[in-house]
Amino acid sequence: MDSILVRGNGPLHGDIEITGAKNACLALMPATLLSEEPLTLTNAPRLSDIKTMTALLESLGAEISSLQAGKVQAMGSHGDISPIADYEIVRKMRASNLVLGPLLARLGHAVVSLPGGCAIGARPMDLHTTALEALGAQIELKDGYLHAKAPMGGLRGGVHKMRFPSVGATENFLMAASLAKGTSVLENAAREPEIVDLADCLRKMGAQIEGDGTSRIEIQGVDRLHGATHPVVTDRIELGTFMLAPAICGGTVTCLGGRLSLIESFVETLDQAGIDVTENERGLTVTRRSDHVKAVDITTAPFPGFPTDLQAQMMALLCTAKGTSTLEETIFENRFMHAPELTRMGAQIQVNGGTAQVSGVEQLKGARVMATDLRASVSLILAGLAAEGETTVSRVYHLDRGYEMIEDKLSGIGAQIERIQE
Ligand code: EPZ
Repeated sequence: MDSILVRGNGPLHGDIEITGAKNACLALMPATLLSEEPLTLTNAPRLSDIKTMTALLESLGAEISSLQAGKVQAMGSHGDISPIADYEIVRKMRASNLVLGPLLARLGHAVVSLPGGCAIGARPMDLHTTALEALGAQIELKDGYLHAKAPMGGLRGGVHKMRFPSVGATENFLMAASLAKGTSVLENAAREPEIVDLADCLRKMGAQIEGDGTSRIEIQGVDRLHGATHPVVTDRIELGTFMLAPAICGGTVTCLGGRLSLIESFVETLDQAGIDVTENERGLTVTRRSDHVKAVDITTAPFPGFPTDLQAQMMALLCTAKGTSTLEETIFENRFMHAPELTRMGAQIQVNGGTAQVSGVEQLKGARVMATDLRASVSLILAGLAAEGETTVSRVYHLDRGYEMIEDKLSGIGAQIERIQE
């Protein structure tokens, strides 16, 4: 298993390229199951999660070719499609559950393994199943698999209000309702940019969708969808992550392709902490106003609130702030596993259930630490950039799920970082 070695760094300077969004691409790829015609995604990120989704779709009978060194995913599902998403693949990546809606819409039935829990929480599927049942699906759990069946004649339009604005359940509903007979309405829908990106792609395929990006989405079902080519939206979580590099080290860095509209609440929090962010034609330019950031309180929330996927990275920054910050994690039940690792670097963090109190320290100290999940691993890299001495982050396979060539990108702005094959 590889590790990443980071040495404490002075100010960082330069440009860093932001790639296509992992969480958009993982929802866009299953959409190829909705049409017999080819779907091509450009600006796709080169990540292990994309490889896992490729393997899953191929196991269902889709044909996928990664072109231009993986930046383009050309997909087709004109042959026979299997309804069975096997546990061996699904257990590796929760987003595998995003084939449920498309398989139901395309085939009228699906047998999809429950993903099982992961490091950050139990991750149940009830919001997906109740949403699809509103379209007439009958879904039962047997031997760890969801067995789903559409009514005779296929899914039919329905109205559904979600208990919680689940991103994945919204995506499954969007894809299934696009081919349902009649009108569907989803209330309390997720509003993330990845939802809008999926709706944009489905519209290019012929779907009739309105209201994506708001809490109420209306879909007019159509008989069939055709092929399309669609660019994956910029990754707002990678964007926010790399904006924190100059925030924690000092210096000035431009995140190419970044747009304020993707992360307004995060940028407001950075402003409170004393970080300047300006949008220009190249992207977002970030610089720290003074030698130390100020403590701020954050509460994670569904979009447009503070993103849970940036909570661990923000905690690393606040470990070096002047004052005490309170971080409240409201989306996942176990998303502070980076805290004990940051404590090994001299951070002062008190975790109590879903709340963490972070008292800023003058200087973090390099240490050997262990990645536990995707976003926790990158928070340790950020802390290592600001720490005195060397930090070695082990189990970086977590990192490779969501960050493309992170050591190359950070080295490009002056960070002392290298990958160690172990
Ligand atoms: C998506 O996961 C993202 N993943 C996650 O990013 C992100 O943290 C999450 O949305 C929230 O923004 C992808 O898009 C591939 P949810 P998803 O359904 O769709 C509970 C990363 O680091 N819930 O909005 O699975 C669930 O347990 C990953 O890139 C139910 O109770 O998130 C969680 O507590 C991590 N029942 C909350 O809702 C359900 O049926 C939010 O889940 C579904 C979810």
